[in-house]
Amino acid sequence: MHTLLSALKIAALFAIIPISTTAYAGPDHAGGHMEHMNDVQKKLKKALGNKYYQPVPAATKKQLILGKTIFTKSCVACHGKKGNGKGPASATLKQKPADFTDAEHSKFYSDQGRIYIIKKGIKNTPMSGWENTFNEKEILSLHAYIRSLRTTKNVKKHNHSHGGHDH
Ligand code: HEC
Repeated sequence: MHTLLSALKIAALFAIIPISTTAYAGPDHAGGHMEHMNDVQKKLKKALGNKYYQPVPAATKKQLILGKTIFTKSCVACHGKKGNGKGPASATLKQKPADFTDAEHSKFYSDQGRIYIIKKGIKNTPMSGWENTFNEKEILSLHAYIRSLRTTKNVKKHNHSHGGHDH
């Protein structure tokens, strides 16, 4: 009986593991991932209209402090302490959290687009909306903080050639 049970357990384990390890297509941003981002960008532009391109003023010191405090509480599980997308929960996610330190990637959506994402989330991904949790001031501070994480050093190879950067 016992051996049968443990055999079943092992079989069950093997049945589970491949689901979480193979579902993710890989860290390169070719193909489906870029298509997805283009699609999200299109929807943001449609929802925001001209506001999509409206510049967001430079962050104040207060915003950066408040933004960091909230980020540390509410965003690090997925986006990681450094904002590089490698939070403890990210390993189990099929859609990987954005890397805010990536110079290229973090510029893909406009500032207004990212503020909108923080408010509303991204449909069909683990990124949920926070407009019911945080007020406008807090959301703008979160945006100011994640924008401050963008670096110029950390430029990864991206396949951004097909029409992503038209801003
Ligand atoms: C449960 C995990 C999870 C949590 C918690 C989370 N995010 Fe996300 N976030 C994601 C994922 C996954 C994506 C990428 C979605 C996609 O593939 O389009 C994302 C994308 C984003 C983007 C758009 C990409 C970019 O580079 O601009 C922004 C902005 C963002 N998150 C901000 C935040 C902020 C701010 C918080 C905290 C208030 C937060 N997220 C909390 C999972 C999470």
